[in-house]
Amino acid sequence: METLLQVAQLGAPVLRQKAKKINDAGDASVQKLIEDMLATVKDVSGLGIAAPQVYQSLRLFIVASHPNQRYPDAPYMDPLAMINPHILSHSEEEYLDWEGCLSIPGLRGCVPRWRWIEVEYTDASGSKHQKKFSALVARIFQHELDHLDGILFVDRVRSSRDLMTDKEYLKMLEKKK
Ligand code: NI
Repeated sequence: METLLQVAQLGAPVLRQKAKKINDAGDASVQKLIEDMLATVKDVSGLGIAAPQVYQSLRLFIVASHPNQRYPDAPYMDPLAMINPHILSHSEEEYLDWEGCLSIPGLRGCVPRWRWIEVEYTDASGSKHQKKFSALVARIFQHELDHLDGILFVDRVRSSRDLMTDKEYLKMLEKKK
């Protein structure tokens, strides 16, 4: 039975810590945490969630890309747990796009990220994978990886002028239609 987890918000010390490597993906507590994080990110229809966001300072996150209002063409993928993830190589170029975060409700920021990345991670069953991600999935991965190092998207904006409240952000989207 899954438990919906409390999400830590900006100011919680756990969001600023460097998370610890997971030595045994098969450990019952890790398996339970993955189940609960999957249920939690689904409940709020999030694109991803990292373990520090649920008060567990461990190198684990979920990527859950799916089409939404902002990214109608976002690839749908079964939410994927990634353990001890890291970037092997990346594009030379960065690009800007808007991001939000479950830990910073009501705020959006325009954040530079690598356009594509090659990554390595261990899945929930303990197998290692090397994959290449681009565009939104690469962006989610970079955002979640930052959480494991105590970095939030507000640290990545080039200027405070690249921050917007949800309300004004939604207004801007409507205008663009
Ligand atoms: Ni976040």
